[in-house]
Amino acid sequence: MGKNAKKKPAAPETQPDKQPEHRDDTDEGPAVLATKATAKADSDGPITLAIDIGGTGIKAMVIDAKGNPLGERLRVPTPRPATPQAILACIKGLLPKIPFDRVSVGFPGVVVNGVTKTAPNLHKQWADFSLQQALTDLTGRPSRALNDAGVQGLGVISSAGTELVLTLGTGMGFALYVGGRYVPNVEMAHHPFRKGFTYEDYIGNAARLKVGNRKWNTRVLRVIEQLQKTFNPDVIYLGGGNSARLRGELPVGVRRVDNVAGLLGGIALWR
Ligand code: BGC
Repeated sequence: MGKNAKKKPAAPETQPDKQPEHRDDTDEGPAVLATKATAKADSDGPITLAIDIGGTGIKAMVIDAKGNPLGERLRVPTPRPATPQAILACIKGLLPKIPFDRVSVGFPGVVVNGVTKTAPNLHKQWADFSLQQALTDLTGRPSRALNDAGVQGLGVISSAGTELVLTLGTGMGFALYVGGRYVPNVEMAHHPFRKGFTYEDYIGNAARLKVGNRKWNTRVLRVIEQLQKTFNPDVIYLGGGNSARLRGELPVGVRRVDNVAGLLGGIALWR
């Protein structure tokens, strides 16, 4: 048992995700959500508990092998300080009553071999934290962890050519795939963009709140243009709760994706 095992914070109240119309939550868009329970699991394959750890909310959903949601998608606000211990307590509170075979988690930072290295919008304690192992210990099931944007893309890419995922949430998520293969942990969010700002400084949620939606909208388009010039992708998939706030037509080659993909990609993690 780890040294933190003594302290057991009470598991937070969980609630089905009801998608209120207005809220300052960057992890959800008003669009999307598959919260309806499907009648029966696909009995041919394993059941996955898919978790998405965000800077604003932690989401969990159980899905069958075909990606059909089994039961409601639950969400709790990300605790502050967002230490590993506090977040694991939240996940404990989100564990479903129905049985599951394995756990997939999308994490908002660099993840190498199931170990978290950075978590710019969570807490320093995530440096070298064995998230995969901690989830296995918590659930008694095999677990896999990957960067959140990386997981999201696995749920939507066509696996042809160069594909990018850009997520607009608390932070800026970025994932690169070449012929369907994920190039791990390309942290464009923290790359300089302009005037001493990183990409995330420029279009993260803090920037949006500071400069307002209109200006932020223009900024996002500038970022997209720069990413297109830099990576020459076949397609950029745009996700994250704030993507629903973008107004106007999206540039050619850019497609908005359903936020639930962040969880559905959890199946692809096991391929
Ligand atoms: C992190 C990324 C993450 C993104 C979205 C950034 O601050 O560096 O790893 O994907 O936020 O959560």
